[in-house]
Amino acid sequence: MSGPPNEGHNEGHHPADADQRTIDLKESDMGEEVRQCACCCEEASEEELLERLDAVIDEYQDKPGALIPVLQMAQGIYGYLPEATLKHIATRLRKPYSEVAGVVGFYSFFSTVPRGDNVIRVCLGTACYVRGGKAVLDAIKSRLGIDVGETTEDRVFSLEVARCFGACGLAPAMSIGDEVYKRVRPSRVPEILAKYRETAPVEEGALNVAG
Ligand code: FES
Repeated sequence: MSGPPNEGHNEGHHPADADQRTIDLKESDMGEEVRQCACCCEEASEEELLERLDAVIDEYQDKPGALIPVLQMAQGIYGYLPEATLKHIATRLRKPYSEVAGVVGFYSFFSTVPRGDNVIRVCLGTACYVRGGKAVLDAIKSRLGIDVGETTEDRVFSLEVARCFGACGLAPAMSIGDEVYKRVRPSRVPEILAKYRETAPVEEGALNVAG
């Protein structure tokens, strides 16, 4: 996903390694959840996942700015970034755990809790905000019974906010996975969400939080 250089950052946190900020981060790279894929392949064991992670670290560890690509790949392997994985990465890259955790906290697309199969991002950039993005966000929160940063109990949805999708002329915008929805009205939220559930849409507030 293209966007301003600081898009996706969490305000108020700063990674320790300035070189890492120069890496072009793409949120689309973050969505691959190898462990939870929907095909018929078998779920990998913890040992196999660790082997994959170590292979990634072997490949990147001597390159400058290795931390962020390793974290991206680790999130692709595990679906999120468990604390034990962050500690393993810190040890293998010979970095303080605090630095690794700081980078993860800085970029909003890194997650230390399991995400749902469908990540909803509601744009709260200026154009979307003034055209009702907050009302769309509130409608989703109410419908799913979760807040920003949380995941429905059945792990179908996670909810996040974004700054701009580059669709400002068709604000307010939101995305679910790779699909971008434009000129969204709160009244359309149930219909949009229902596309991602095989079962009937849930009642308002029927689901609660996992992580
Ligand atoms: S501000 Fe929402 S798409 Fe640009």
